[in-house]
Amino acid sequence: MMVCEYKPGLEGIPAAQSSISYVDGQKGILEYRGIRIEELAEKSTFLETAYLLIWGELPSKEELEVFEHEVRYHRRIKYRIRDMMKCFPESGHPMDALQASAAALGLFYSLRDLHNPAYIRDSVVRLIATIPTMVAAFQLMRKGNDPVRPRDDLDYSANFLYMLNEQEPDPLAARIFDICLILHVEHTMNASTFSARVTASTLTDPYAVVASAVGTLGGPLHGGANEEVIQMLEDIGSVDNVRPYIQDCLERKAKIMGFGHRVYKVKDPRATILQKLAEQLFEKFGHDKFYDIAQEMERVVEEKLASKGIYPNVDFYSGLVYRKMGIPTDLFTPIFAIARVAGWLAHWKEQLAENRIFRPTQIYNGRHEIPYTPIEQR
Ligand code: ACO
Repeated sequence: MMVCEYKPGLEGIPAAQSSISYVDGQKGILEYRGIRIEELAEKSTFLETAYLLIWGELPSKEELEVFEHEVRYHRRIKYRIRDMMKCFPESGHPMDALQASAAALGLFYSLRDLHNPAYIRDSVVRLIATIPTMVAAFQLMRKGNDPVRPRDDLDYSANFLYMLNEQEPDPLAARIFDICLILHVEHTMNASTFSARVTASTLTDPYAVVASAVGTLGGPLHGGANEEVIQMLEDIGSVDNVRPYIQDCLERKAKIMGFGHRVYKVKDPRATILQKLAEQLFEKFGHDKFYDIAQEMERVVEEKLASKGIYPNVDFYSGLVYRKMGIPTDLFTPIFAIARVAGWLAHWKEQLAENRIFRPTQIYNGRHEIPYTPIEQR
């Protein structure tokens, strides 16, 4: 039997063969199906990019129109899902609400015909279409309002912002939001994608796949970091406090949120794009002092930690963009999930194409041959 070295966190161990996305962490390159992220952010839309990831090629004009049409007309959620969500505690985290709602959706589509392309397509469309509606619905319901119906005349991102804020968004804000979704849609074998593939490998339904991935994305070392970035910027409060704050983190060996990445050892290319988007928003809607704090943080962290390859990651500037759009901090990670669901579904499809159930091994380091002690003797 082959003996393998144990690697905590499976660092550097391939868990799948995939042609969905590619990262060069030394050069700061990210590609989806071979196309550079910078080009997609400039020229594509979220739904077109989702199509590219899931079906492997950019759609023709007609294919894109059909896909957009399908997603548009599946945006409404069932009243029974809405009623279930009304029973969720208002103080609960929206990621937990999303995880529960995504799993509950599977109750309505119990046919699990994984060999049927129509079932795959229906599931993809339904999940991409309804996840934003569920996020917006929970936001309104926890404030005591009724959810807003999706608007068929608005495109994907504009409709989400409309459902969230109960008013039509500014076109620049809607386009920037759409680019944010493109930047978050996929990123090779990260924790939530691995989780999705493990769940997919049992041949369960795609709703369970997405629900398990949502649960994994929520942690502060993964998608949850963008919430913590805003908290950190608020705690720092002024540019003058940046250096002492970072010094203190380094002395306590505490991680500085929004910095560092398992793969990138240079600035995350998504952070570079997001920083420019944040600047466009500030130019149109007014300056934000948190941006000055963020820039100073980037300077000081680079000075102190560049030798360890610690630079801003995708979560560092995304929070600033969403904050400027008036989005509540605890919705940042659900928004990440709105985007990433398309990446997870691309991995679900790829996993099914050459499936083998995940069953790694372990190195047992416990005891053996221990006699059972009766309870009164313990
Ligand atoms: N702040 C300060 N030091 C850091 C940071 C950070 N954010 N990240 C890594 N380091 C240091 C570590 O202390 C370690 O130093 P040492 O070698 O002297 O012990 C060295 O850099 C290597 O760090 P690891 O923890 O081994 O790096 P790893 O690849 O395991 O961690 C991670 C990556 C989890 C993202 C980490 O950088 C981190 O916790 N960052 C903050 C949380 C965050 O922003 N997460 C979002 C990631 S992007 C995403 O998931 C979408």
